[in-house]
Amino acid sequence: MTPELVGQALESGGYLADDVIALTCSLALSLDRPLLVEGPPGVGKTHLALALAEGLGRPLERIQCYEGLDEARALYEWDYGKQILYTQLLRDTVGEQLRGVSSIGEAVERLGAEANVLYGAQFLLARPILRTLQSDRAHVLLIDEVDRSDPEFEAFILEFLAERQVTIPELGTIRAKHSPLIVLTSNGARELSDALRRRCLYLYIDYPKPSHEQAIIARMVPECGEALASSLAELAATVRQLDLRQSPSISETIDWARAIIALSGNALSPEIYKATLSAIVKHEEDREAVERAIDKST
Ligand SMILES: Nc1ncnc2c1ncn2[C@@H]1O[C@H](COP(=O)(O)OP(=O)(O)OP(=O)(O)O)[C@@H](O)[C@H]1O
Ligand SMILES: [Mg+2]
Repeated sequence: MTPELVGQALESGGYLADDVIALTCSLALSLDRPLLVEGPPGVGKTHLALALAEGLGRPLERIQCYEGLDEARALYEWDYGKQILYTQLLRDTVGEQLRGVSSIGEAVERLGAEANVLYGAQFLLARPILRTLQSDRAHVLLIDEVDRSDPEFEAFILEFLAERQVTIPELGTIRAKHSPLIVLTSNGARELSDALRRRCLYLYIDYPKPSHEQAIIARMVPECGEALASSLAELAATVRQLDLRQSPSISETIDWARAIIALSGNALSPEIYKATLSAIVKHEEDREAVERAIDKST
């Protein structure tokens, strides 16, 4: 798929991609490689994966990473409840088979083959990774905020990232019927392994240029006039240059535009900008510097 077509698909999914984003997504599709997306908070990393699914018409599976996330949540787990239920239901049959058995060793030997049945595909609970592998449709799989997971989780998805397959000891290797487009995002909370990076194409999304942010505001807040969108995009860029505890993200600029419009329509007034700073200033100690920047720029 060409970068132009990917850009159009993203736009239909509600995402305005610049050339680098469209090109990298296009490469991920044509080379069939996972995409690792890094960048500051709120620049649209997660939204990119959602828009890819929407725009390409693919189903989405999503894994939100956290400390302690393990295979049972991301890949598969055995349905213990069902296994126990079946053992109960089959108690009489098992009793029948064990008639005349005098030792535990003999019983285990006699039941050995049957016990494996309890580790068959019908007792498997598929989690997002396995679901994308078994599906008849090519998915987009979002592994969101992978830097929040433990290094062990990262290690265990390596086989899947490289080969689109997973190995379940009791069942063997399961390969993807249709390779999913895998998007991993990270905020850099911890350093990811070289092994993971090597298996992915890399995309860094930075804060956008004012002209691009203006277009994003116009797209997300259609009632925002051109002059207000342009003024807010310029201000956001100026504010991000300040030495703040927290810089405003794109989503916060969008909220800012919505707040201003809710309060006073499309007014271009420093007073209204300052009155709505709750949308972009999230630490009291940042407020004064932002107010000064607004006074200087308007
Ligand atoms: N290029 C874009 N086109 C349209 N909307 C965008 C774009 N970039 C960001 N947004 C808006 O910004 C919002 C926040 O983006 P998102 O949640 O994807 O950021 P993120 O990088 O995943 O943040 P975090 O690191 O906090 O998870 C989106 O819901 C969307 O409204
Ligand atoms: Mg996100």
